[in-house]
Amino acid sequence: MTEDKSRSPLLELHEVDTYYGVVQVHFAVSLHVQKGEIVCLLGGNASGKSTTMKIILGLVKPRAGLVRFKGQNIVGLPTPKIIRLGIGSVPEARRIFGNMTVRENLLMGAYHRSDKPAITEDYERILGLFPRLRERLTQRGGVLSGGEQQMLAIGRALMGRPQLICMDEPTMGLSPAFVDNVLELIQTINAQGTAIFMVEQNANLALQIAHRGYVLQNGHIVLQGAARDLLDSREVQDAYLGGSSGAAVIKS
Ligand SMILES: Nc1ncnc2c1ncn2[C@@H]1O[C@H](COP(=O)(O)OP(=O)(O)O)[C@@H](O)[C@H]1O
Ligand SMILES: [Mg+2]
Repeated sequence: MTEDKSRSPLLELHEVDTYYGVVQVHFAVSLHVQKGEIVCLLGGNASGKSTTMKIILGLVKPRAGLVRFKGQNIVGLPTPKIIRLGIGSVPEARRIFGNMTVRENLLMGAYHRSDKPAITEDYERILGLFPRLRERLTQRGGVLSGGEQQMLAIGRALMGRPQLICMDEPTMGLSPAFVDNVLELIQTINAQGTAIFMVEQNANLALQIAHRGYVLQNGHIVLQGAARDLLDSREVQDAYLGGSSGAAVIKS
């Protein structure tokens, strides 16, 4: 790949080993995200994808290895501090606040900021991206459809004005129309300057919008490269994309 070595990555995991008790779930996992990139982490069920997100967000601590954001080692930092450094999170199953209104959910995303005029500006910009949310500002998050909740979770992450957003299976459980919608949104958000690290089981979809990808298998990175090369690669086609069918769900 033509990568400029002088550009230090926005996010970097270097030889990360992670354990839950005595069970090792990451084996020297190394990956990086450059400014401006969409990078996907693919892998079957239980391969360690969500744990990678949790490592980045400081929810799980690696036993060995480094995690750097903008050159700073963030291992051991508390999650709120990591978020303040500029990492946004769209967790698995969205985790919006069901009893709070859409508006309150969005504002929660800016809880650590005090730059009021910029918060208002971001709020308006985000509602511009998500017209469906604007129509539902006073409704409780819990009554939204799955797709709308996903948009709310993404909007909430954007309210933190992050330089990097980590998303755990953003298309999971969404109807096809919403899947397209969410993928387009991810591209729009990226085009506006936010790097994206997305964890996906749906390799075909993720590789359509990603610049690069990594494949995690039982805690090992077994493949990596440009999204186009991964999509074209016979290995990924056979193992992860179900040959020529569009089924596209990775099998572990
Ligand atoms: N809190 C936890 N305690 C113990 N084991 C866990 C915990 N979270 C995940 N695991 C195990 O770690 C492995 C990787 O999980 P996970 O990162 O969620 O995988 P994925 O997101 O790829 O499905 C799985 O075997 C899972 O059962
Ligand atoms: Mg997961």
